[in-house]
Amino acid sequence: MKIGIGRTHGKIILIGEHAVVYESRAISIPFFETECVVEAYDSNGKTSLVSSLYQGDLDQAGSAFDAISSLITELEKKLALPPLEYNINSTIPVSAGMGSSAAVAGAIVEAVYDYLDLTLSEEEHFEWIQFAERISHGNPSGIDALTVSRDEAWVFQRGKKPICFNQKLNAYLVVGQSGVLGSTKVAVSSVRRLVDSERKYHIIESISETVEHAYAAYLKQDVVSLGRALNRAQEYLTQLEVSVQEIDEMVMLAQVSGALGAKLTGGGLGGCVIALAQTKDVAQAIQKSWEEFSGLSAWILDLNEEKQ
Ligand code: PMV
Repeated sequence: MKIGIGRTHGKIILIGEHAVVYESRAISIPFFETECVVEAYDSNGKTSLVSSLYQGDLDQAGSAFDAISSLITELEKKLALPPLEYNINSTIPVSAGMGSSAAVAGAIVEAVYDYLDLTLSEEEHFEWIQFAERISHGNPSGIDALTVSRDEAWVFQRGKKPICFNQKLNAYLVVGQSGVLGSTKVAVSSVRRLVDSERKYHIIESISETVEHAYAAYLKQDVVSLGRALNRAQEYLTQLEVSVQEIDEMVMLAQVSGALGAKLTGGGLGGCVIALAQTKDVAQAIQKSWEEFSGLSAWILDLNEEKQ
């Protein structure tokens, strides 16, 4: 039996989410600890899905699958693709700011190209994911599409060629789940309302400045300044009303444990929190406090060892 395989991973936005929608720069890194694998194979004549959330014909999958459904329909049209069965296996938490929707779309596209023995360029991959992301959340900057499908760390700016950088840093990044489901679509449109009707564009500009400080600190291996930048970004995201009580509490727990900085990551209104720690002991203390708080696993990334 012919089979196509696609593989993508989660992503972490270190700093610059939301402002990146307004053409500010943002910094993202791949999160290999979570991944999405899609296998595509011949079906019995109808396009169908096998996933933990739904099993059955794609045309019956319901509105939660609108983006995937439109993506596959477009792929079928543009590439003369026959109806296939898509087996989706993802360990990326959904509605958690880790790029799950982009990763699923990216893995489907890769599986389809693999099935058809077609070469998929990085640009085509990005554009196909963006096609699905526009349906998922309206006005995607593209940072998720890029980071879930590529293995590097990025300084991303809408409409510009992204800059890849060496993410090696003498520090640990702790990634924790609040357990509150975020909604990128709702968050992005409520920030748009604040910016347009309540004249809050200055907060976007402040985030943008903070991103530049963070990037300069990263390049100088100045982990203390980087941590400070993360804390400032969290204050601005709170002013944009995309933080929630559970995230605020996790940020506080990280600070009490000795984090250099902590903030939400991704769209917010729930989802994940990140904290920068100078030592493994501090990282483990943060991990423990977060896991006790939410009952969900937290990860520690040794930034010195992460893949380049
Ligand atoms: O919640 P996520 O993982 O989709 O991240 C969204 C990041 C935003 O900056 C809020 C939106 C975007 O498209 O860049």
